[in-house]
Amino acid sequence: MYSKEQTQNLQQQTEDLIKEHNSKSINTKAIETLRTVLRFHEYRYYILNDPLISDFEYDTLYKLLEKIEEEHPTLITPDSPTQRVAKGLTKDFPTVQHLVPMLSLDNSYNSADLIEFDRKAKELSGVDEIEYCVEPKFDGSSISLIYENDLLVRGATRGDGVEGDDVTTNIKQIRSVPLSAKFSDFGLQQIEIRGEVLINKNNFSKYNAELMEEGFSPLANPRNAAAGTMRIKDPKEVAKRNLEAFVYHVSFYTMADGQKQPEALATHSGALQMLWDLGFRSPEKEKRMCNGINDVVKYCTEFEAKRDDLPYEIDGMVVKVNNIALQEKLGMTSHHPRWAIAYKFKARQATTKLIGIEFQVGRTGAVTPVAKLEPVAIGGVTVSSISVHNAEYINEKDLRIGDSVLIERAGDVIPQIVKSLPDVRKGTEHKIVFPNSCPVCHTKLFKEEEEAVWRCVNIDCPAQVVERIIHFVSKDAMDIRGLGDANVRKFYDLKLLQDIPGVYSLDFKKIGELEGFGKRSIDNLQSAIEASKKQPLHRLIYALGIRFVGETTAKTLAQAVKNLLDIKNFTIEELLLLEDVGPKVAGSIHHFFSNKQNIEMLHELEKLGIQFSNEKKQLSTTGNLSGQTFLFTGTLPTLKRSEAEAMVEEQGGQIVSGVSAKLNYLVVGEDAGSKLDKAKKLNTVKIISEEEFLKMINR
Ligand code: IVH
Repeated sequence: MYSKEQTQNLQQQTEDLIKEHNSKSINTKAIETLRTVLRFHEYRYYILNDPLISDFEYDTLYKLLEKIEEEHPTLITPDSPTQRVAKGLTKDFPTVQHLVPMLSLDNSYNSADLIEFDRKAKELSGVDEIEYCVEPKFDGSSISLIYENDLLVRGATRGDGVEGDDVTTNIKQIRSVPLSAKFSDFGLQQIEIRGEVLINKNNFSKYNAELMEEGFSPLANPRNAAAGTMRIKDPKEVAKRNLEAFVYHVSFYTMADGQKQPEALATHSGALQMLWDLGFRSPEKEKRMCNGINDVVKYCTEFEAKRDDLPYEIDGMVVKVNNIALQEKLGMTSHHPRWAIAYKFKARQATTKLIGIEFQVGRTGAVTPVAKLEPVAIGGVTVSSISVHNAEYINEKDLRIGDSVLIERAGDVIPQIVKSLPDVRKGTEHKIVFPNSCPVCHTKLFKEEEEAVWRCVNIDCPAQVVERIIHFVSKDAMDIRGLGDANVRKFYDLKLLQDIPGVYSLDFKKIGELEGFGKRSIDNLQSAIEASKKQPLHRLIYALGIRFVGETTAKTLAQAVKNLLDIKNFTIEELLLLEDVGPKVAGSIHHFFSNKQNIEMLHELEKLGIQFSNEKKQLSTTGNLSGQTFLFTGTLPTLKRSEAEAMVEEQGGQIVSGVSAKLNYLVVGEDAGSKLDKAKKLNTVKIISEEEFLKMINR
């Protein structure tokens, strides 16, 4: 899409724009450059997954464009990056007709099915050996996109295949769908493209965690989440879900006057390449050309092994005859084309019996029903219990004890019950009865009107206390290894650990007398506890388990104060001024710090030597790396990018967004791209490995 030279020019223009913006001298003439630059960075971010500037820099330029357009509305173009955001709500999704019916695919499940497909295709076409293009079968929700004169004019759902819903406004929220593309370079006037909208595993898990945190029912799988999002009437809400789109098929096109059919559209692989070159996310990098069916079988098996490593869900591969003339010769049935077949991977769904319900109490007192299942294997993992979240969820899915249920484990996503199977009920099944009182401390349960969960409101409920300690010591919180769930429970039952401060006054002599605790494990535990006292403030805040305060809000809070106890002095209004802190979060933080018992606990922790001050701020100008700038590129062998960046900042170094004369060190991992090339050209940048970096910071 962008050559090396264009990339370098655009990056230079970006830097110039940022500089100009800082000097406030930007004028309206720059508007088209600004759009080109923003589109380029959207492409780097959403298609290539390799941004060249920071989110902040992108936002600065975006806001600048918004400002110029606001002052000069006549200069707005329909494909301006600002035009993705729709104001207001969509009333209804009008039904629209697809230019060509959206057919489904025939399925195959093993190599014999594929061999049979190939045999028939050869027989029907009279060709000896067929070239196939094999690509992933994306597990999302299918869409059709129409571009006319290079502009996206319509996006629709599949519907019944003949008619679908016009969801153009929602589709415009998907950043990997270009609002305009130079189809005219290929002589095309109108084109209909098919693709799949999906939500990646990471965003799906985050979204489900948010839903559950707010007391809503989670969604069963990313596919349902993507399909559901397409039907949301508030485009802003759609934008928040971070949908992605792959495009994989050209179903219809017309040429501009006097233009010849483009060479690219003579083959499927040519079409994928054309779409990729025009800035779409087609499976250009994931596809493989195969001569003969044996190659196809090999690639399908090979890709299945990588399934769990992909950031998004796929449920199989699609095998397509590459030559379009040959595709036309083979034609279609009323249901599916004869030139393509889906190769389905082993299902991640299974049916089993719901044999009982257990009620568990979480750290915020939420009582969660957990379904006990007859153990069943799905994708190599045996599942015997699944959270069923809350009473509403149980009602929605009409779950009864004794029911057969369909369950799904989507990759590394937590298994979920998709539905019950009422048609096979015998009459012996019975309804799930919710308890009125806490199953652990027997306090009467309470439910807020707008919430779906029932809660035990006894803050001293043993189940809550244990869960709070477990959260406090967990990996993303204080990270005290050796004090896992089982040990916390054991120590609590033995009265060796009764509350959070108790973590720092454990009786190691008594622990040493327990079975399974040798000197080494005690030493390790002791040093992990000691090390945790120096955890950065944001981890401590997160560890406190304040409702609605996840890792991001904890970081925001930590940045806003010098000492943990400063938060106590914030009014709700002041909390609301912090980034991404809404009324619910602000209320919860305020509530936590207004509670006498909590404040006493914090004083106790402070006395025990836990670091309450914002260490990072003090270090930033004095650390080892003070005055040095760093940038990370490629996949690092052991560190997460965020971890490495935090290490730099902890030692007073600074992270910069791109390679320039300002950069001192470029730390390169595997598959480093253009940043490495650029750094090599600039003789001033030191290029180092992760190992060298770790040495530098004495790790
Ligand atoms: S080609 C006329 N390619 O799978 C053929 N479909 O089960 C058009 N799908 O309805 C489809 N990934 O929604 C094609 N790489 C891919 C695909 C793909 C996912 C979906 C598509 C289709 C369904 C059939």
